[in-house]
Amino acid sequence: MKLLKQVRALVVVVAAVVAVAPSWAQTGVGDVVYVPTPQIVVDEMLMMAKVNKADYLIDLGSGDGRFVITAAKKYGAKALGVDLDTFLLKLANENARKENVADRVTFREQNLFETDFSEATVVSTYLLPEMNLRLRPKIMRLKPGTRVVAHDYSMGDWYPDEQKTLVVPEKKVGNPGISYVFYWVVPALAAGKWQSTISVGGKDVPYEFDLEQFFQNIDGNAQAGGVNGEMRGKMIGEQVRFSLTGKGAQKIERHEFQGQLAGETITGTVRIGEGATARQATWTAKRIKRGELIRAQDEPGGK
Ligand SMILES: C[S@@+](CC[C@H](N)C(=O)[O-])C[C@H]1O[C@@H](n2cnc3c(N)ncnc32)[C@H](O)[C@@H]1O
Repeated sequence: MKLLKQVRALVVVVAAVVAVAPSWAQTGVGDVVYVPTPQIVVDEMLMMAKVNKADYLIDLGSGDGRFVITAAKKYGAKALGVDLDTFLLKLANENARKENVADRVTFREQNLFETDFSEATVVSTYLLPEMNLRLRPKIMRLKPGTRVVAHDYSMGDWYPDEQKTLVVPEKKVGNPGISYVFYWVVPALAAGKWQSTISVGGKDVPYEFDLEQFFQNIDGNAQAGGVNGEMRGKMIGEQVRFSLTGKGAQKIERHEFQGQLAGETITGTVRIGEGATARQATWTAKRIKRGELIRAQDEPGGK
């Protein structure tokens, strides 16, 4: 009898705990447990990604749906969340209805590693570092310009285009009190040999660029009117930016190139020289040989 009373008391306690447990007490299913991103961090990440109503955001491992719902409610974006946890998927759908965004969002029961997210313009994740790394090759093949945001964990050798550390007192799990947020833009492939003719002081000068690329970073050797130079710069999606200076003792006025890459052509402007004597010119370059991304050390077969 005494044992029965104890069992009953235990059942009451367990029922009470379940009744008041916050949604994050749900463990999640799959390769990482469920821990929600604090709402203030979700807001910051969507702001970093400049989410807008033309976007299609996909949250890989969507939990209670907060990234998806916020993207739809605050910015009018369309959004998809995938998760394996049926409890969380149901909760996410309920939350979407409560927030009146059910017409713009979808939650799908699916393994995120099997999800086709090639249509996304923004991808968000709060996953373990090894999961981010596993997703990275697929992310790198997304359309150039696709924005990616990740909470707390980065993408190995693919350094972010922007990162922030946020103080979040209400965060109790993961890194308590602190959230690291990371932002990348999928770069276009600029690697390869390019040729251009630029009018400098009324004279047509031939340029050749031999660009190497490691994720979004570009550098390499160049020739400007037969003089050897070197370049260093960055891709942001299809936008190209690099500076050109003389190599070693070789003298080339500093050039700051900007342009837009489309297929095998770059068009843009270049600032030649510095200070009061600086001039601006337009430039168009054609790729004569396509290169490849340099393999990262943290990839199988990387350098
Ligand atoms: C850390 S939580 C993040 C939830 C939400 N994105 C957020 O930031 O609030 C990770 C989520 O991924 C889900 N998950 C884990 N492995 C998964 C997999 N292989 N496929 C789909 N979802 C997965 C878990 O169920 C959990 O909801």
